[in-house]
Amino acid sequence: MAQDTLVTEYNGKLECITPMITEEQLQARIKELGAQISADYAGKEVVAVAVLKGSVPFFADLIRQIELPGLSCDCLGLASYGSRTESSGVVRLTSDLSRPVAGKHLLIIEDIVDTGLTIQYLLQNMETRQPESIRICTLLHKPAGERVKVPMDYVGFTIANEFVVGYGLDYDERYRQLSYIGTMKFKDLPEE
Ligand code: IMP
Ligand code: MG
Repeated sequence: MAQDTLVTEYNGKLECITPMITEEQLQARIKELGAQISADYAGKEVVAVAVLKGSVPFFADLIRQIELPGLSCDCLGLASYGSRTESSGVVRLTSDLSRPVAGKHLLIIEDIVDTGLTIQYLLQNMETRQPESIRICTLLHKPAGERVKVPMDYVGFTIANEFVVGYGLDYDERYRQLSYIGTMKFKDLPEE
């Protein structure tokens, strides 16, 4: 069932979120990704890495669709400076993996690849630790935002160049808890 636009008054503006990918669509696609990952890595020891904070809901749902006895999980934190709706490409590691990953198959789980600068930074950082392999799994890809080419091995959905929130993705740390993905637009409050 199509959901209505969610309208929230915040800081003197109206924030309007229109559903773009429903919870059902997300879960169906995650099931497919999990099956594909399970087949591709059969018999291997994989470390699934959640990139905090945006990938948390996706990570939690995806790992439960991966059938690999040799799967282990870790996480790291990244922050990119920039305005609230545009990434600057200046990335920094805010928390690191809990264990070394030399000789392991790394599967990095991201929420969205826009400019590609975050993933580029992360790949360069991870490569210095000499894992056996590195693959990227991103829930969303915005090709129109691309500034650098990064390899993406698993992509949930390719989307248009719009700012989206929900299912882990935030605007100023809000809306991460939505179970769907929606496009976000701002409107002025009506005059009194
Ligand atoms: P990139 O470095 O431009 O590829 O962007 C990566 C990060 O920017 C993501 O992990 C998100 O945190 C953030 N980001 C990019 N596009 C969006 C969006 O549409 N909504 C919310 N966050 C976004
Ligand atoms: Mg963010």
